[in-house]
Amino acid sequence: MATLGVNIDHIANVRQARKTVEPDPVQFAFLAELGGADSITVHLREDRRHIQDRDVFLLKETIKTKLNLEMAATEEMLEIAKKTLPDYVTLVPEKREEVTTEGGLDVKSNLEYLKNFVGNLKDSNIEVSAFIDPFSEQIKYSKDIGFDFIELHTGKYSELSGSKQYKELQRIIESTHLANDLGLIVNAGHGLNYNNVKKIASINNMNELNIGHSIVARALAIGLEKSVREMKSLITSN
Ligand code: PXP
Repeated sequence: MATLGVNIDHIANVRQARKTVEPDPVQFAFLAELGGADSITVHLREDRRHIQDRDVFLLKETIKTKLNLEMAATEEMLEIAKKTLPDYVTLVPEKREEVTTEGGLDVKSNLEYLKNFVGNLKDSNIEVSAFIDPFSEQIKYSKDIGFDFIELHTGKYSELSGSKQYKELQRIIESTHLANDLGLIVNAGHGLNYNNVKKIASINNMNELNIGHSIVARALAIGLEKSVREMKSLITSN
């Protein structure tokens, strides 16, 4: 059965909207673990738009499950990963102007650079995953480079419906089988929500699903009424 990695970037987004100290993603990681998260994922972006360096260091010290650090394959991030020693690193492509990670990493076009980069992380005993689109070529090159895991991009699956979504699901299933045959562990994520997760979760040998936005959105839906009630009570009680 697939495990659940909870991405808490959007907690940090709310904090950074005011550049203040709350909500603190470190506290929310604790709550996610209470809810059954099997790992905590954060993406430390080059522009630090949500997660900050301090979050990564504190999470490494405080969480009880596993820390998955998403990052671009840059020298700056390599230094941070080697200092923090997360349980694993997921390499993602990063463009400053994008709203979220828009496509998978093109491992084929960066073969030699990535071989060195992945080798460097593995020398520090950090397992490494590649966030890639579900294409056989990308999977085979991920194996050649030395990645331990791949994370299949489910963004397209999440956006489609009907027969087009079914076709994309088949592509993800075939990609999972191919990667397993090559000895890669398979995770998946992006755009998964309470309506579309089941079909991905039931793929044989799916290791972990990384989910962020829909979980944080649901937390607001479940929690807002109570937080308003508490504020109202403070204002109206004497
Ligand atoms: N996996 C990767 C590699 C991502 O970049 C993201 C988005 O930060 C996710 C999973 C989670 O996506 P979502 O927030 O849509 O659940």
